[in-house]
Amino acid sequence: MPKSPFTDAEFVPVTGHPAPRMTDAVIAEVAAKIEKYDQIHVVTDRHEQAMFTYKRVMAQSAASGRPMLGGRILGPSGSGKTTSARYFRDWVLRQNQHAPDDVPVIIAPLDRACTSRRLFSSILDAIGDDFSEQGTEAILKQRVYRSLRRLNTRLLVIDETQHLRFRSTEANDTTDTLKRMLDDGLCPAIFLGTDEATEFLNQNKQLANRLMPPCDLKPLDRSSPGDRKIFHTYVTELDCELAKAQLTVGKSHLTEKRTLSCLFAISGGVLGRVSNLIRVALDHTLFRGATSIELFDLSHATTSWAVAQDFIGYNPFITGVRGAR
Ligand SMILES: Nc1ncnc2c1ncn2[C@@H]1O[C@H](COP(=O)(O)OP(=O)(O)OP(=O)(O)O)[C@@H](O)[C@H]1O
Ligand SMILES: [Mg+2]
Repeated sequence: MPKSPFTDAEFVPVTGHPAPRMTDAVIAEVAAKIEKYDQIHVVTDRHEQAMFTYKRVMAQSAASGRPMLGGRILGPSGSGKTTSARYFRDWVLRQNQHAPDDVPVIIAPLDRACTSRRLFSSILDAIGDDFSEQGTEAILKQRVYRSLRRLNTRLLVIDETQHLRFRSTEANDTTDTLKRMLDDGLCPAIFLGTDEATEFLNQNKQLANRLMPPCDLKPLDRSSPGDRKIFHTYVTELDCELAKAQLTVGKSHLTEKRTLSCLFAISGGVLGRVSNLIRVALDHTLFRGATSIELFDLSHATTSWAVAQDFIGYNPFITGVRGAR
């Protein structure tokens, strides 16, 4: 019979009420605190590497008129790709080295079944163009080129690149379109996407030839000391930031050995999934009026969020981590 690494007594809540308080006032208070939680940004060596990729791809000067190289950051859902792009964009804006009307970094998320025409519409949408759907592909392309030049855009981030995998004649066009944009020296581009985009990008050698070495965000490996260190740093920082933002009173001891091992198993080494699990646990903590995230909240979040959505097939807080040494 599998056994919990924790004693029954440790599952008993120490602070707050055992059941959530569901009043309107509490709902509003918790919503405000969760908004604060979502502003927490943790930086590890992993995140530094991603920043390095954004910086060096953007460092190519569009003014030179020569073809641009692109970059790619692929990883499973929840690995922090979109967050990294937004963080980088905010960093560039904070440098304040652009004219007031410039948009130095554009992040364009793609829709499912993305054709070349939709690609241009998505870029125009990201710029806030009210006529992003109007006109032929050639016209939309012209508007994109003109807009990016007028806005002095220095980096185009295409998010959800896997949606270019659309299998039709247009699929080849989209790759060709992206390749052309780089060749035209319009501006450098970074492609973000889930693992589904890997095969697609690898197969398209003309585009792959124009990309710098990938900076993919693979799940961390529990057997690698370097990866374990990154995971430890991430959870340590998250715990500290929770206290600093006064969302908890003091730390929640999330890096306690047994807890950390369960968090690794639940997240599968995907860092953003830890953030998402802790958001659910914090929500439970706050609804109970407790002062820090307790084992009770972590276990509840695991069952109600992670197991319910099949991120993991069991609750390691209750049964222990399977396959752990
Ligand atoms: N560096 C970070 N610090 C704190 N939280 C983070 C960080 N990176 C990601 N997160 C959180 O992790 C969650 C997942 O991140 P994000 O949405 O960026 O992942 P993604 O890789 O874009 O996933 P998808 O492929 O599903 O779009 C979000 O709730 C985000 O706030
Ligand atoms: Mg994303």
